[in-house]
This record gives sequence, C-alpha cells and structure tokens, in this order.
Amino acid sequence: MTTFTNSKNRLIFALDVPDRNQAQSLIKQLDDSVGCFKVGLQLFIQEGPDILRLIKDHSTADIFLDLKLHDIPATVRSALRSARNLGARYITIHSTEGEAILETSREVNDSGLEVLAVTLLTSMKEEQLGTLGFEQNTKIRDVVLDRATRAKQAGCAGIICSGEEIVSVKQKCGENFKVVVPGIRPEWSRVSSDDQNRISTPGKAIQTGADLIVVGRPIRDAEDPREAAQKIVSEIDKCINQ
Ligand code: C5P
Repeated sequence: MTTFTNSKNRLIFALDVPDRNQAQSLIKQLDDSVGCFKVGLQLFIQEGPDILRLIKDHSTADIFLDLKLHDIPATVRSALRSARNLGARYITIHSTEGEAILETSREVNDSGLEVLAVTLLTSMKEEQLGTLGFEQNTKIRDVVLDRATRAKQAGCAGIICSGEEIVSVKQKCGENFKVVVPGIRPEWSRVSSDDQNRISTPGKAIQTGADLIVVGRPIRDAEDPREAAQKIVSEIDKCINQ
C-alpha cells in the first residue's frame, strides 16, 4: 500500500466551484480536514493557474490538477511540461488512446508531479459500453484493468477508477500503483448519486484498497462542509485501524 501518514491525507476534496471567492472560503474551512484539493475544469478555466497560488497561500495540502488531458501525444507532453512548474502533486490524462498518450507521463518523471490515468469515468454504466463501440457483454472491470495495466507499463503513477474495480487493479498492478477513487457517497450524505453511477462509500473504498478517495458534492453541499469532511476522515480512520 502506498503510504499516507494519516487518514486525512487519504481524502481529496473536489473544489468544484465557479470562482476563487467560493474556492477560498472552502479552502479555509477544510484546510485541516483534507489532504488534497482537486482543481477541475470549471475552476481552472475560470481562474487559470493563479488558483493554485491561492491554494498554496492558504493551505499546505497537496493539489490535484484534474484537467483530464486528451490530445495527440506531442500536445499532452507539452501540457505536462507546462504543468510541471505549477506546484501540483497530481494531474490526470485520459487513457482511451493507449500507450502513446500514457507514455507522455515520462515527461514529468521525478519532477514531483504524478500522472494519473483516467480509466473509465465513474459516471459510466456497463450498458453504455456497447454504444461506445465495445463488443457486446464487455465488462467495465475488464476495460479498467486493461487500461490500468497499460498505464502502469507506460510509467503513470496510478489510475482513477471506481470502487468496484479497486481489488482487481491492486491485484494486477501491485500495491505501489496508486488507485484514486471518485464516485464516493457516504451513507449519511443527502446528496444523491447524481451523474455518478459506480459509487462506493468512503469506508468500502478504503477497505478494498483505495489509496485516495475523491469527494466533492457530499462535502461541498453539506450544511457544514468541515463536519462532513471530518466524518469521512473518521470513517477512513476506523477502516485503517480496525
Ligand atoms: O461531487 P462528486 O463527489 O461526484 O465529485 C467527484 C469529482 O471527481 C468530480 O470533480 C469529477 O470531475 C471527478 N471525477 C469523477 N470520475 C472520474 C474522474 C474524476 O467523478 N473518473
């Protein structure tokens, strides 16, 4: 298992908000309760790289730049080179195009920026695979495993997958290959699964081997986001220490 020194460090909060003011308010509330802030497309397109400076000014947590890069290898490689100096710990690229894209991760080897490959979005259901050109009866787990194996061989630090695939990926790719899991819905959360289809509780994801979990709306939309984050950290804690 990749070692994270405490339960808080296993929790990534998705800063899915429209602007820096709302981001700043959540960073201040959550700084001591989460290990990493994830900046996605909405906030990055609105605020640009300055948003990473804002996070660094208010927190010592890691930063995850979730840009899900998807382009020709030369362009992804250049984008990774540009991202290398922004101070993020993680960045995402898509894995659908195979090795040529995945191998761009070597561009930032040893720079402190870890490249995570998105396997199949957690909003995806098995029934949808057919409409995307996969053979009938293709299993999500097999697609995720194939992409995870390629990502590992190509030099990525880890992958993003749902809670349902963690065990198989860990078995196939080994303990040191990071498995990062979104689509997390705590049992107490009043947020519905929304667009997420392959969901898991924080405890189940950690118990089955997730290194890190990504939680957005269940914390952001809670009456008290800090309390919600702390409840999730306690759930992680229980799983680790049971
Ligand atoms: O609000 P919620 O907890 O569903 O947020 C999940 C976050 O994780 C979102 O920012 C989403 O973009 C991201 N994500 C995901 N599924 C993936 C990769 C990233 O939900 N496969």
